[in-house]
Amino acid sequence: MYIQRSIWSLQFLLLATYVRAQSSINNLTLSFSANDGQGNVTFSTASAPSTIACFNLADIFNNDGNASSASSYVVSNAQNFNSQTNYTSLFYQQLNTSVNGDSSGIGTGKDAARTVEVFPGEDCRETGGLSWYGFSCQNEDGERYVIPGGVQSFSIVSKAESVKQEHCWVLSERGSASNNFKGCFAAVMAAALTGTLLVLG
Ligand SMILES: *[C@@H]1O[C@H](CO)[C@@H](O)[C@H](O)[C@H]1NC(C)=O
Ligand SMILES: *[C@@H]1O[C@H](CO)[C@@H](O)[C@H](O)[C@H]1NC(C)=O
Ligand SMILES: *[C@@H]1O[C@H](CO)[C@@H](O)[C@H](O)[C@H]1NC(C)=O
Ligand SMILES: *[C@@H]1O[C@H](CO)[C@@H](O)[C@H](O)[C@H]1NC(C)=O
Ligand SMILES: *[C@@H]1O[C@H](CO)[C@@H](O)[C@H](O)[C@H]1NC(C)=O
Repeated sequence: MYIQRSIWSLQFLLLATYVRAQSSINNLTLSFSANDGQGNVTFSTASAPSTIACFNLADIFNNDGNASSASSYVVSNAQNFNSQTNYTSLFYQQLNTSVNGDSSGIGTGKDAARTVEVFPGEDCRETGGLSWYGFSCQNEDGERYVIPGGVQSFSIVSKAESVKQEHCWVLSERGSASNNFKGCFAAVMAAALTGTLLVLG
């Protein structure tokens, strides 16, 4: 899986640079902690990748921070990361910026620039019959959510390239354990991951 992650990261970097050059979107901030909200580890990016970028908490936070210095995301409080912690609390903040002086697209509850999905297993997979959750609405001040199954990985993709949504997502329960499962995205992810495993195996 290391190779696949590297490919994802590389694509993320390339696409991130590309996307950033042409649109003005604010940072996305994701902060993870245990139930008490203390000792968070925080991820922030100004990019909206046009292909799915998957991140394992254990990969991006479980180092001394050097790895992220050349990337299009920054982590903070990585020293708080503990592989034994069940990261069931997510602070989510994402806001559009004005486009050519037009600020009508800015506001909590409106479509954001990216779809974020948080997964109970590594490599953006479901595990143990637990659901994953999607977020794609803006939230100006940021909000803390309880993720029942905890988070071990998350994905980011520009909303335009994400699965079609009737209304943007706020803690939208997804996956095989939920009633919202449409088979689409999870199946695509599963196929992509299986393909990777077959290639690497
Ligand atoms: C994360 O923890 C730091 C202190 O270590 C705090 O200043 C910050 O507000 C926390 N962020 C969130 C989103 O809870
Ligand atoms: C946005 O994120 C970038 C890193 O991706 C960081 O350098 C910058 O300080 C952040 N800006 C704000 C306003 O948080
Ligand atoms: C991180 O950077 C420091 C200072 O540049 C260096 O001494 C250390 O070996 C680096 N760690 C890793 C894991 O690359
Ligand atoms: C927010 O920005 C994204 C990316 O530029 C755009 O696709 C989306 O439509 C914007 N949201 C609104 C409500 O205009
Ligand atoms: C985290 O806690 C939830 C809720 O108690 C549980 O369902 C999940 O299995 C836990 N995850 C891990 C990795 O321990």
